[in-house]
Amino acid sequence: MEGRIAVPGDKSIAHRWLILAATAQGTSRMAGLPGSLDVRSTASCLAQVCGSKARPSLDAWASETPRSDQADGFTWDGTGDERREHEVTVEGEGRDALRKPIRPLDCGNSGTTIRLLAGVLASAPFATLLTGDDSLRRRPMERVAAPLREMGATVGTTDGHPPVEIEGSALHGIHHQLLAPSAQVKGAVLLAGLAAAGQTTVVEPVPTRDHTERALDRLGAPVRSKDGTIHVAAFQHDGFEGAVPGDVSSAAFLVGAAALTGGELEVHDVGLNPTRTHFLTVMGRMGVRVDRRQTGEALGEPLGELFVSAGEGLIGTRIEARELPLVIDEVPVLAALAAHGVGETRFAGAEELREKESDRLTGLADLIRGLGGHAEVAGDDLVVAGGGLAGGRADARGDHRMAMGAAVAALGARSGCDIEGMEAAAVSFPGFVGALRALGARVGA
Ligand code: S3P
Repeated sequence: MEGRIAVPGDKSIAHRWLILAATAQGTSRMAGLPGSLDVRSTASCLAQVCGSKARPSLDAWASETPRSDQADGFTWDGTGDERREHEVTVEGEGRDALRKPIRPLDCGNSGTTIRLLAGVLASAPFATLLTGDDSLRRRPMERVAAPLREMGATVGTTDGHPPVEIEGSALHGIHHQLLAPSAQVKGAVLLAGLAAAGQTTVVEPVPTRDHTERALDRLGAPVRSKDGTIHVAAFQHDGFEGAVPGDVSSAAFLVGAAALTGGELEVHDVGLNPTRTHFLTVMGRMGVRVDRRQTGEALGEPLGELFVSAGEGLIGTRIEARELPLVIDEVPVLAALAAHGVGETRFAGAEELREKESDRLTGLADLIRGLGGHAEVAGDDLVVAGGGLAGGRADARGDHRMAMGAAVAALGARSGCDIEGMEAAAVSFPGFVGALRALGARVGA
């Protein structure tokens, strides 16, 4: 497997800038939006609550039929042209123009959509019901509901889960210590803080992705961030222009695939935010050689290239609990590599994996066993025995990153593997299978 490739735009960054475009007082132009289903969920929910001028373009972008090659495999030609196609212009009328939606907001599979929108709607003077698919309706919402209530919103959850009803009101700033590391909760409280009286402070126990802070800083908001303490105060921003960098979490699965098949791979126009690239450090400990080069900046985010070269073979490692938030979305690909390494890999204190799109803690152990390897859950640790995979069958359980992790693991197996539910990859990486094929991997229908 080898080649030069670009990946779709970063999902985390796209959610935030779409929200900022819909709440801007002015026109914004964004390029590089990924066609991933999660980001479409954010756009369609925003279309239902934003001012009337922003609605048509958000609606059109959200409901645009994915091109067929995107649905079942999208071949990136490496020029980046595909990313420019995903452009949207949004005529924002400010946060005060938000209005009551006529139906519940369907956030689909997207935890980032429901939690960040909760932060925005906490100041809107009407009641909104937010819900999503079966997976989303199992995910915890009290972690975001509690601080928003403290700021003055009325928030009702369904036994701690969606559907969630938010009745916004005049907010006041709070000092909030995150109980579990979560960029979604941090983002929700900071977005609410933009419409609150006084200062809002979020303290995080360990670092998580900092896209919200970077975005607010880039827009000129009064945001300060130092040693895990972030302050923000009321701010109404104007429109902006920018392009979303490629999603480094999507790139991680291609990097893993190249490492397993011994290929040389270059990924260009990809985000290199240090709160997202820790998987490269962990892969380095496992014997994968990846060089990175920053080439520029986009929307306040570092942008550049990754180069994967043939390594000496994979070895097991230990991922400490404090590292986990920095590789939270890449655990499936790290576990796939671990299954092929020499020696054991342990993800220590990984209980947060239970709260993802599926229970990835037990799911990953099952997946590796299903593909003919050895893995177990020991307390809150995921323990993967190396030694390779014999081949077999795995179920992605409707979880995009489980699907992509299974595909990567399968590429190194000693015999064929069947993966159920590969289509879930479109939640973050439409065209993942096509990208693997374009790079030379043998993937059947
Ligand atoms: C995200 C934060 C993380 C991550 C998710 C995207 C974000 O979730 O797993 O895929 O964009 O803020 P948590 O905040 O639940 O850790």
